[in-house]
Amino acid sequence: MQSIQNDSLENLKLLKEKYGESFYLFDVEKLRRNYLNMFSAFSSRYNNFIIGYSYKTNYLPTVLKEISHLGGFAEVVSRLEYDLALKIGVNPQKIIFNGPLKSKDDIALALENESIINLDSFYEIDIVKDYVLQNNKRNYKVGLRANFEITIDGMNPIQDGFVKSRFGFCVENGNFEKALSELVGIDNLDIVGLHGHISTQTRSLKVYEKVTQTLCDLSKKYIASTLEYIDVGGGFFGNVPKIMNLKNVPTFDDYAITICSIMNKEKIHFIKEPCLIVEPGLALVVDTFKFYCQVVDVKKNGDEYFVLVNGSVHNIKSELSKKNTSMDFVKTNQGDYQIGNFNVVGYTCMERDYLMTDYIDDIPKPGDFLIFNNVGAYSIVLNPPFIKERPPIIARTGSQISIVRKREKLDDFINSNIYIY
Ligand SMILES: Cc1ncc(COP(=O)(O)O)c(C=O)c1O
Repeated sequence: MQSIQNDSLENLKLLKEKYGESFYLFDVEKLRRNYLNMFSAFSSRYNNFIIGYSYKTNYLPTVLKEISHLGGFAEVVSRLEYDLALKIGVNPQKIIFNGPLKSKDDIALALENESIINLDSFYEIDIVKDYVLQNNKRNYKVGLRANFEITIDGMNPIQDGFVKSRFGFCVENGNFEKALSELVGIDNLDIVGLHGHISTQTRSLKVYEKVTQTLCDLSKKYIASTLEYIDVGGGFFGNVPKIMNLKNVPTFDDYAITICSIMNKEKIHFIKEPCLIVEPGLALVVDTFKFYCQVVDVKKNGDEYFVLVNGSVHNIKSELSKKNTSMDFVKTNQGDYQIGNFNVVGYTCMERDYLMTDYIDDIPKPGDFLIFNNVGAYSIVLNPPFIKERPPIIARTGSQISIVRKREKLDDFINSNIYIY
């Protein structure tokens, strides 16, 4: 292990020498702080509380192990992620299995392992029914994902302007009741939980107020005697860089006050105090990763400056958005820098490979380091194997650093175990 404390030029040169021209740095202590801050915000207001970390947001094994050591559950949405959680050493009873696609085999495994499983569609209900009726010596438990009207102040907050979420059983058209009625008569099966994740643009308190209250109301009406958990899903804001200029960003305490006050008011309606589950992804990891690369060339086309780096938009923005993110700049050149408007562009030969657009600062020079902050959510998992190998990831705990993902080589990129040459 090497000892690195900050982004001084000396340290960056050392890291570059050891790990190559571009790399990620994962701040382990920041992840611990985020987890513990969120946990204490909720658990200080509601007794029975679980964080289920959303694996798909960033499934770097080091991240998953850290969350597991902190006591977090694993929220998975495929068999592959389920198997990954087992490989990390997560107790199957601490796995929450969500998502639209689960095979017969997946459902049987989750039921036998007593994982928390939230059903999303009628085909899963058929599988569960067949399975529990054939295996009637044991009792089984399932939860249902509810789909309900979420309009707030006349506005629909669902991400990307979708009018209706595609997930879960719709309350308004009677499918939720139908799903319940197919399962309630089965002797060796209990419906023990409701799930209500909703991905919104606003990530606002009003969304969580509506989700929590609706899940409590549905539970009171239909499953008050068997309820064990209310799962409000993820979708919380984490640390938001100033450059994004967002207003009304709730803190973990704000979210906890909103959600826990409803849970505390409603818990008397149930036989057992229900467990409150949240499934954060972005909020826990977004600010725990930075991406480092170096300027290769600066050129002018027309009146515009293009700063070419040995990174790509694919390394930092999964949705390839044109919005600028927070960037730091470590100069390696002597002499004056000229202030100006410039773009930072990547190594792919795609026109849209912009890491920064129309940014005003000192115009970088070849050799300077550019550091992109807040790249921990979705960018690592949605970085395609495209044109160039993916960079290594270094983890920093205090001043100690160690490699947790090596730089890919050709045979990792187009693996001869699976590709036929
Ligand atoms: C079911 C479920 N839970 C949790 C999450 C995590 O969301 P976020 O990363 O916004 O917290 C998602 C993301 O889409 C999800 O689909």
